[in-house]
Amino acid sequence: MAGSSEALVIHALLCCLCGGVASIECSGRVWIEPAPMVLMGSNISINCLATPGCPRAEFFIFLNYSLVEGPLHPVNSSTVQLWLHDFQEPFRTVACFTRCPNSKRSQLVCGANIQAGYPPDPPSNLTCTIRERSGHLACTWDRGRLTHLSTHYTLHLRRTGLAVVKDAEEKDAEEKGEEEEVFPAGSPVPLSTLHGRSRYSAWVQASNALGTARSAPRPLDLQELVVPTPPLVDSAETTETSPPTTIIHWRRQTLLENVHCEERHKATGTPAWHVELWDGAAQHRPRGRHDLQSNTQYVFQVRCRLSPADSPWSPWSPPFLYTTPEAAPATAPDVWRRLGPAFPNGSHEVTVLIKPLSPQDARGRILGYTVAAESPWGTLLLCNTSSTVCSILVPPGAHTLRITAYNSKGASSPASITLSQGAGSQEEFPAPVAVEVKPDNLSRVLVAWQPSPRSSRSPLWFIVEGVSTTWYGWEEQYFWKKVPHQETHTYIRAKAVAGGHINVSVYAVYPDGVSRPSSGQVPAEDQLLGSTSSEISHDGDIGVLLGLGISVVTLSNISNLTAGPSPFPCSLLLLKPASPIDQVAV
Ligand SMILES: *[C@@H]1O[C@H](CO)[C@@H](O)[C@H](O)[C@H]1NC(C)=O
Ligand SMILES: *[C@@H]1O[C@H](CO)[C@@H](O)[C@H](O)[C@H]1NC(C)=O
Ligand SMILES: *[C@@H]1O[C@H](CO)[C@@H](O)[C@H](O)[C@H]1NC(C)=O
Ligand SMILES: *[C@@H]1O[C@H](CO)[C@@H](O)[C@H](O)[C@H]1NC(C)=O
Ligand SMILES: *[C@@H]1O[C@H](CO)[C@@H](O)[C@H](O)[C@H]1NC(C)=O
Ligand SMILES: *[C@@H]1O[C@H](CO)[C@@H](O)[C@H](O)[C@H]1NC(C)=O
Ligand SMILES: *[C@@H]1O[C@H](CO)[C@@H](O)[C@H](O)[C@H]1NC(C)=O
Repeated sequence: MAGSSEALVIHALLCCLCGGVASIECSGRVWIEPAPMVLMGSNISINCLATPGCPRAEFFIFLNYSLVEGPLHPVNSSTVQLWLHDFQEPFRTVACFTRCPNSKRSQLVCGANIQAGYPPDPPSNLTCTIRERSGHLACTWDRGRLTHLSTHYTLHLRRTGLAVVKDAEEKDAEEKGEEEEVFPAGSPVPLSTLHGRSRYSAWVQASNALGTARSAPRPLDLQELVVPTPPLVDSAETTETSPPTTIIHWRRQTLLENVHCEERHKATGTPAWHVELWDGAAQHRPRGRHDLQSNTQYVFQVRCRLSPADSPWSPWSPPFLYTTPEAAPATAPDVWRRLGPAFPNGSHEVTVLIKPLSPQDARGRILGYTVAAESPWGTLLLCNTSSTVCSILVPPGAHTLRITAYNSKGASSPASITLSQGAGSQEEFPAPVAVEVKPDNLSRVLVAWQPSPRSSRSPLWFIVEGVSTTWYGWEEQYFWKKVPHQETHTYIRAKAVAGGHINVSVYAVYPDGVSRPSSGQVPAEDQLLGSTSSEISHDGDIGVLLGLGISVVTLSNISNLTAGPSPFPCSLLLLKPASPIDQVAV
């Protein structure tokens, strides 16, 4: 008779709805040996005693609403036993039924719950604090292993002496001997019930059905447990100096003296805090001064404690968020140029190339770039654009271009490009030598060179420039990068395409001019395909990877059961259709 277990569910549900426990009538007795609450891993037996109205009645035992397949051991004519070895379930319900040989109806004998768990560990790390003005002593501790059982904690305080001067009344009390006071866990202890100037010994006791354990006692000096209220932010400001300085003004909240505080800050989204201790002199007008990055959001917090070394810290104050204002860009952008045709009248075409500044250097949103030429007739603005590429016609006589990046607060210092490449002698601006270009792997190309051996001057830096053309020749890609003068090799990103061509040139840049290029090509047999595109690994890529925070969901906070499971038989509400059996019908 399939579906009979659903019938049981419905019956149980109705029972609970119609007034519950009373309407389920036990016709016998079900009990657990050795006890309904056992140590995890115990061997237990479930006993079912019934007086069915017939001989040779069958017994059925359900564990969590599934029929147990294992053998039931008869104890005598009216009792059967189910043995369970190494019981590992924190909680299970039991129901026992009987059925007479020729009947289709089963009769409920009764039900029970089995709980398995552990005796409590001794509580550890007992920490007690008194928040300033709270009027309460609050203690926390670590409970240790999950017991799975309802476990009761109590806080015990015993006076052990007086911290300072004894007045007559306290002395009296002390002489009466050790007073021990017990407080339930979870509710803070009103200070009015304690003696402010006494020393106490405190410990925590944990107990459940399987045992009792105590923490190690720890001495408490109520005077030292007071946690000062940390300051609040009053205002924040950033100076217009260079570099700018940010000052956070904190408003004192505590009425206590001898308070030590520390302030911490970090850019939001970064992991590391910068912690600064405040000296005693700063206590009355607390303020924090910082050299911070411009145009960046920071979070600030403070915490305080009394001066004795054992005094507990207050929690960190609520985070204060502050975004530093923009400032003019910190450095000039990296720049390069491609020379176009020169005209008979002496002017020539130049394409100016600009690398965007890093956020640290940009100190704000870059609104644009200016390119100006210095000529015998003064400074001429040739380009003012938000683009990083600008093609200009340089008038005759202009030898130097000055490029700045600007944001809402101002312009960077100018970067210079001299246009007199090759015009001077080789001796004046020695070019790098021995340029080698070879594929390093499928996606990048190694470029190596040597500084000119004839050179007595050191270049400011090198520029590595490349042009890649596809085999059909009409598509060209251009890239460039700046390499510090100490280095003599770099990698460029290039993808392989059969028949393509890559020409790489290295320039040495001096304060007053640029060398001729020294060039190299990817050898024909190694020809990489395709097109070269900008330099490898932009720091930004790494930043994106690091930004992928991993949120970890911790389940460790689930505390021990504080209330026991609901009593049988309403737990039958959870009855699920079990293995289809035809024996049971209620
Ligand atoms: C449980 O029973 C098994 C088999 O009879 C036995 O080996 C084991 O020691 C018992 N465990 C406990 C905790 O009594
Ligand atoms: C059967 O055994 C149970 C448990 O030992 C006992 O309580 C009960 O009285 C016994 N019944 C009979 C009829 O012996
Ligand atoms: C048995 O049922 C109880 C109550 O619904 C539940 O907490 C427990 O996890 C169940 N155990 C198993 C093994 O299904
Ligand atoms: C002790 O408890 C405090 C306060 O709850 C906590 O900050 C600290 O990490 C704990 N220490 C250990 C060793 O668990
Ligand atoms: C020089 O010649 C170019 C091309 O013919 C022309 O575009 C430009 O205006 C001329 N510049 C001057 C200063 O004459
Ligand atoms: C460049 O253009 C911007 C916006 O049009 C303007 O505010 C700025 O003054 C210009 N810069 C120069 C140097 O002319
Ligand atoms: C490579 O580029 C340099 C600089 O533009 C040029 O002088 C040289 O002729 C080019 N070499 C080849 C083989 O294209």
